[in-house]
Amino acid sequence: MGRLLIGGHTEILIGPGWPDPLLPPRSDREKAVVITQPGAAAVAARVAADLGAPLLEVADREQAKTMASLNTVYEWLGEEGVGRHDTIVAVGGGAVTDLGGFAAATWLRGIEVVHLPTTLLAAVDAAIGGKTGINLAGKNLVGAFHHPSRVVIDLDTLAALPTPIRLEGIAEALKAGLVGDSRLVDLFASQGVEADLEEVVTRAVAVKVEIAGSDPRDEGRRMVLNFGHTIGHAVEFTAGLSHGPAISVGMVAAGSISAQRYGFPAAWLTDLIFSLGLPVAVSDLSGQVIVDLIGRDKKRTARGVRMVLLQAVGAPVVEVVAADELGHGLAAVGIG
Ligand SMILES: NC(=O)c1ccc[n+]([C@@H]2O[C@H](COP(=O)([O-])OP(=O)(O)OC[C@H]3O[C@@H](n4cnc5c(N)ncnc54)[C@H](O)[C@@H]3O)[C@@H](O)[C@H]2O)c1
Repeated sequence: MGRLLIGGHTEILIGPGWPDPLLPPRSDREKAVVITQPGAAAVAARVAADLGAPLLEVADREQAKTMASLNTVYEWLGEEGVGRHDTIVAVGGGAVTDLGGFAAATWLRGIEVVHLPTTLLAAVDAAIGGKTGINLAGKNLVGAFHHPSRVVIDLDTLAALPTPIRLEGIAEALKAGLVGDSRLVDLFASQGVEADLEEVVTRAVAVKVEIAGSDPRDEGRRMVLNFGHTIGHAVEFTAGLSHGPAISVGMVAAGSISAQRYGFPAAWLTDLIFSLGLPVAVSDLSGQVIVDLIGRDKKRTARGVRMVLLQAVGAPVVEVVAADELGHGLAAVGIG
């Protein structure tokens, strides 16, 4: 299995199958418990059997990241007698790694968490970098930084993902390449959506490891990982698109603004995103609604909106974008 380390605290193992032993060896651990979601239940059952651990299935998708769901987890941890030296194993997509990570960050003031991401998005993004949390009135409003001791990325599980779930992660992996690894972008350009999964995952994880590791508390440089997200989030909120497709549209818009400023090859990027089966435009969205939503975002300044742009592949910059440039970017994705 390929192995990466973040800051000496997280070991990331990438390969088909699981390592033996599955958890990092520790003499003081008495037990492990497994938290999962419906789509990952079969994988989680194997993990639980392997570890001889109890298993809790929480609600699916964002319903997992609620206060009620967190409360269910806390009560269960109490019933199972999970102690200071025990381990929560989060088996699932980003909703489970965020919830399980936050429960681990707060239970008895912090216990070990190990992530087994079962979606491509969780493997290349959510499980890496130590951010955990749940939603209240806003998404991820309550959270903590808490690094997993180990992340096990089983490529066999990811290879079997249904296409829509896989595409969510392809969009984030492409974004990782655009901000930090031109060879990953070349890989998508030459092999399309069938690009070698091990290389895609390893390269995208390496970008997240490097950038998150250089800004562990999300105080500056990590923002480049938001390429496509400022407009993408507004599109996700209004167009009913899921996250990956919405940020694809956001990347096309940000690429178009980057083209105006720096001569970035926006048409090439649009074609690449389209070739991966991701959307490059939306219809019937009001520009004013999108602008208002972006304006509510904390990235707004008096001169405009702070956004990630690309001077070139692998050369992201965070810049203030004025209203007319934003309008140009929105027009490029059909928002007028
Ligand atoms: N902490 C971070 O840094 C970070 C970064 C990015 C995203 N996130 C969070 O991650 C979440 C999104 O993650 P996600 O896209 O993995 O969504 P998710 O966890 O909601 O999972 C999406 C769907 O995939 C199903 N699923 C999981 N594994 C499967 C498998 N092997 N086969 C078939 N179906 C499977 C799930 O049951 C669910 O229906 C969001 O809550 C987001 O806020 C966190």
